[in-house]
Amino acid sequence: MSDEILEETIIDEATALPPSLMNNMAVSGDFYKIAFQFQQIMMIYESAIKQIETKLDILNKESSVNRTRNPISTVKSRLKSPESIAKKLEKKGFDISFDSMMKNLNDIAGVRVICPYISDIYTVRDMLLKQPDLKLIVQNDYIENPKESGYRSLHLVMEIPVYLSKTEHHVRVEIQLRTIAMDFWASLEHQLHYKNDAEVPDSIRRELFRVAETIAMTDREMEEIAIELQALD
Ligand code: GTP
Ligand code: MG
Repeated sequence: MSDEILEETIIDEATALPPSLMNNMAVSGDFYKIAFQFQQIMMIYESAIKQIETKLDILNKESSVNRTRNPISTVKSRLKSPESIAKKLEKKGFDISFDSMMKNLNDIAGVRVICPYISDIYTVRDMLLKQPDLKLIVQNDYIENPKESGYRSLHLVMEIPVYLSKTEHHVRVEIQLRTIAMDFWASLEHQLHYKNDAEVPDSIRRELFRVAETIAMTDREMEEIAIELQALD
């Protein structure tokens, strides 16, 4: 099915108003219609997140049962807020509509997987790629090719089917995989930008980049130590 048809399906079929709401529509129709459609769409994205989380949890449990080291340390998820959705659409020059957000945004549903070591990131990635119901749409390896800021993580946009009582939806989820150290840097760097309304001066940008390099080196050193210890077993 083409994207266009899918999006129409979400709007037209999954968002048909229940009779209880139809009565209220006479009073303030647009409000109910828009609120209900938004709730429906976000429920579909939330279901996609739940499915990815379940997959990660199963992979986690499997490694516990097999007594192998767990490649996942923490999983965090979030749905993009209506405010952030509208801001991003506006910034990128897209229409601000339900159709447009489903078509143009890959990160309405976001899952962050935090791993102990760099190699775990690729282990988890490979496990996800093997899942027959997940389709890889985009892969950005900002570990191999860090961003200008120094930011490192592996980003996957994956599509997952969500089955409702009458309809089927193919939903994109952005999965960010990073080490504990990469997450430490990204979280603090994000906070620094967020807290400062003013532009961050170049000197501070350079310092943050340097810290990211130091952290990346520490990540590699920790991995080498882990490999040395493993060899002793
Ligand atoms: P966006 O419009 O920002 O979504 O860009 P994009 O669609 O090209 O996605 P990209 O692959 O750049 O990933 C965007 C996401 O990665 C952001 O929402 C952040 O969570 C994270 N990210 C990217 N760059 C940085 C950075 O320099 N610092 C931090 N802290 N996070 C970043
Ligand atoms: Mg993004």
